[in-house]
Amino acid sequence: MSNVPEWSTKITDTAGGKIAVRGYDIADIIENLTFAETIYLIIKGELPDKREKRMIEGLLASSIDHGITPPSNLAARTVLSGGNSLNTAVAAGIMAIGDSHGGAIEQCARILQEAVAQEKSAEELVAEFKVAKKRFPGFGHRIHRRDPRTIKLLELAEQTGFAGPHIELAVTLQDLLEAGSGRDLPLNVDGAIAAIMSEMGFDWRLGKGFFIIARTPGLVAHVFEEWSTQKRMRKLGPLGGHYEGFTERKIPPATER
Ligand SMILES: CC(C)(COP(=O)(O)OP(=O)(O)OC[C@H]1O[C@@H](n2cnc3c(N)ncnc32)[C@H](O)[C@@H]1OP(=O)(O)O)[C@@H](O)C(=O)NCCC(=O)NCCS
Repeated sequence: MSNVPEWSTKITDTAGGKIAVRGYDIADIIENLTFAETIYLIIKGELPDKREKRMIEGLLASSIDHGITPPSNLAARTVLSGGNSLNTAVAAGIMAIGDSHGGAIEQCARILQEAVAQEKSAEELVAEFKVAKKRFPGFGHRIHRRDPRTIKLLELAEQTGFAGPHIELAVTLQDLLEAGSGRDLPLNVDGAIAAIMSEMGFDWRLGKGFFIIARTPGLVAHVFEEWSTQKRMRKLGPLGGHYEGFTERKIPPATER
């Protein structure tokens, strides 16, 4: 008998000729569920009801892509252009997701979930961030004065009955941050997903996971476009970058060093 403990999982049961996800046979899943429903099932452990199904479909669709400029797409295309495989390039794109890009969902959801649980007000939260001189995750956008994805997702949350205290807090935070700074700091798609996933009962630690699941099809499309339409090692990123270091100089003779 070995003393090495066995690994165990509650997610999927596999044996010869059998695959059952959260207890549902894969053939049953293929026949009856959409991809979004299956994602909900594997993460939450239960089938979504009609409202949850509609909301998770919207959440995942909202972040599928945002053009060629986000760090993840630039990273993925750059790595492909260096002569690497599709999987390496997509993985590089995923690695570029971070607290400023896509990853703000995690920290925003944590703040919203803890604040709602502790009955902390939006005013207290804004004051804490001001003292710490930190940016509030889930707010602000390089391009959008109002994030079109947020507008639609909040509308969908209202229609599906997910409007609740986390969303209310997020919207109040937007108003306070904008009033306090005098600039546009819209609730961005990360913040909207953070608020809605919190209303749906998802743990904040799943935040980055939601963005990765949603953005990976977009990354695959970008990497394939780069692969199939561009030459390797083309000029990517900022064209006309400049050097601002030392002017050319000579290494002094060894006797002088
Ligand atoms: C997304 C983001 C990088 C866009 O920034 P931007 O519009 O290019 O704005 P800048 O980085 O030039 O910042 C401009 C000012 O707004 C402030 N600001 C920007 N986002 C802020 C936020 N979330 N909370 C508080 N202040 C913020 C900056 O501190 C800066 O103030 P200063 O000029 O007094 O130093 C930025 O809003 C951010 O870091 N947001 C938090 C992370 C996040 O939610 N990321 C997901 C994006 S979808």
